[in-house]
Amino acid sequence: MRKPFIAGNWKMNTDSHSSVSLAKAISSGTQHVAGRSVDVAVIPPFVYLQAVASALSASSIAVGAQDIYIEPKGAFTGEISAAMLKDVGCSYALCGHSERRHVIGETDEMVNKKVKAALAGGLLPILCVGELREERESDKTAEVVTRQLKNGLADLGDEKVSAITIAYEPVWAIGTGLTATPQQAQEVHSLIRELISRIYDSRLADALRIQYGGSAKPDNAAELMAQPDIDGLLVGGASLKADDFLEIIKTVV
Ligand code: 13P
Repeated sequence: MRKPFIAGNWKMNTDSHSSVSLAKAISSGTQHVAGRSVDVAVIPPFVYLQAVASALSASSIAVGAQDIYIEPKGAFTGEISAAMLKDVGCSYALCGHSERRHVIGETDEMVNKKVKAALAGGLLPILCVGELREERESDKTAEVVTRQLKNGLADLGDEKVSAITIAYEPVWAIGTGLTATPQQAQEVHSLIRELISRIYDSRLADALRIQYGGSAKPDNAAELMAQPDIDGLLVGGASLKADDFLEIIKTVV
């Protein structure tokens, strides 16, 4: 059985005060469930990671980074390494979030390097994949997701892939209020599991956790989580309100 995994990606939101109070509210609302019946992570902006990790140190809520750089150290102005992220208390790193792919211009090759850098630095990557609206409308969803997945996981052996979470985030559903229907999401999640089974094996595919992301909220979380291949949610907007995020977590415990 795959343990549900709910993560809140705060994106470029909160400040030094609100990041800590949000973390504390989530921690007190999940005291008896986090780490037991559900894995919970928060993914704050880099500059608040340390404060949030320290506010959560007595809890079972994990902390993740929104991005990571591909090199371990050196002259890369503005970038953050896996070792630095570990040092401030991170255990997860998002790799290839759609906003980094489509706003910043990250390529599949860069995303693959980020996955490898995270693993090499002892972090658990959350590899994000998902199609644009025009790609869905022209029936290219399977093609795009397959390409992003194969390239993102290029040259990684079984052992490495078992440490990865995949997040399927259709770009047209992110921040738009347009959630994929549970059936649309399930279809792509099952395609991802099938691909992993073909590239690796069915044991690995069965154990792999695949999150859905894109306007996940308290009123659609249960229906999404009821799908056989949806193992968790990567929540954006609704993770910024403790009550909404807690409500979402409640749907899986
Ligand atoms: P929203 O939940 O705001 O649509 O964001 C989803 C997302 O991009 C999480 O990484």
